[in-house]
Amino acid sequence: MVLFCLGLEGTAHSFGAGVVTDEGKVLSNEWDMLKPEQGGIHPREASRHHSDLGPKIILTAIEKAGINFSDINLIAFSRGPGLGPCLRTTATMARTLALKLDVPLVDVNHCVAHIEIGCLESEFNDPVTVYVSGGNSQVIAFAGGRFRTFGETLDIAIGNMLDVLGRELGMGFPAGPIIEKLANEGSNFHNLPYSVKGMDLSYSGMLTAAKKLFSEGVPIPDICFSVQETAFGMLAEIAERAIAHTKKQELLLTGGVARNNRLTEILKGVSERHSTKFHRVSPSLAGDQGAMIAWNGILQFKAGHTIGISNSHVLPKWRTDEQDILWRA
Ligand code: ATP
Ligand code: FE2
Repeated sequence: MVLFCLGLEGTAHSFGAGVVTDEGKVLSNEWDMLKPEQGGIHPREASRHHSDLGPKIILTAIEKAGINFSDINLIAFSRGPGLGPCLRTTATMARTLALKLDVPLVDVNHCVAHIEIGCLESEFNDPVTVYVSGGNSQVIAFAGGRFRTFGETLDIAIGNMLDVLGRELGMGFPAGPIIEKLANEGSNFHNLPYSVKGMDLSYSGMLTAAKKLFSEGVPIPDICFSVQETAFGMLAEIAERAIAHTKKQELLLTGGVARNNRLTEILKGVSERHSTKFHRVSPSLAGDQGAMIAWNGILQFKAGHTIGISNSHVLPKWRTDEQDILWRA
């Protein structure tokens, strides 16, 4: 018998619902993102977005999967890390559905889900993962029963740096894709702070320096080009060191910023130098979406883990390395 898992994602400004089978088939993956008119994301506005649109997105996901609610065997939800109000709204929907359908509930770590959906797609067993998004920049590898963070940003995430810079430069949100396009038109490299400290990195100094270049009249394409080359070079350095330390044979790129072709090219270069396999998660599975939550729900369920409603409080600060990875034990 095939198992169907409905996964709900709602850690930040996106709400997603996806249906995945225990064979790893993604049957549907619906989502919608709140785009702030100006400034950053307000947690309460984002949670309202999720409660307003969530039910419709869930219905569409079930419909597109070609199943009925009664076919669902399992509900998975993003328990953390993320914004408290968003997590609570999403968890409430998941609990309600689990109770109503009388099926088990599984709690999912959002960052772990980004890694495992990449492993599903690439058929990788044990990669070094570069996980880059609006809220995270981490280099992760499995060791001693957990996903260990080998290196990460000490201040802002790379996607956030790109989005804030884009806002200052008058671009829409999200700015990452716009910066990528403009960078292709730039060619004059300007020095920016290259900040790697051991295995960690920092992007706030680069943001300040890039804004300064703008105020000095440096053309925007050149700023974009310089920011990309410097920021991605830093990631490549720690990814390379993680491969050398761990001797792993696979390199995986995941998270929303994985959509960037230049970053992909640079990391591919790293993998070639170290003779590892390389995979960049496809655009539809790279960002925040419900299919990755559903797939991780399946993995945990098959390893014997579910969670009771009364224990299912959200964990806004749940770190990648705080979960025992039972299904890989
Ligand atoms: P998380 O909760 O995991 O931190 P998130 O909420 O930031 O994720 P994602 O969809 O994973 O959501 O990532 C969105 C980020 O990806 C944004 O910062 C956006 O600018 C960035 N991004 C998207 N496409 C590109 C691109 N082509 N180049 C660079 N950055 C990109
Ligand atoms: Fe994410």
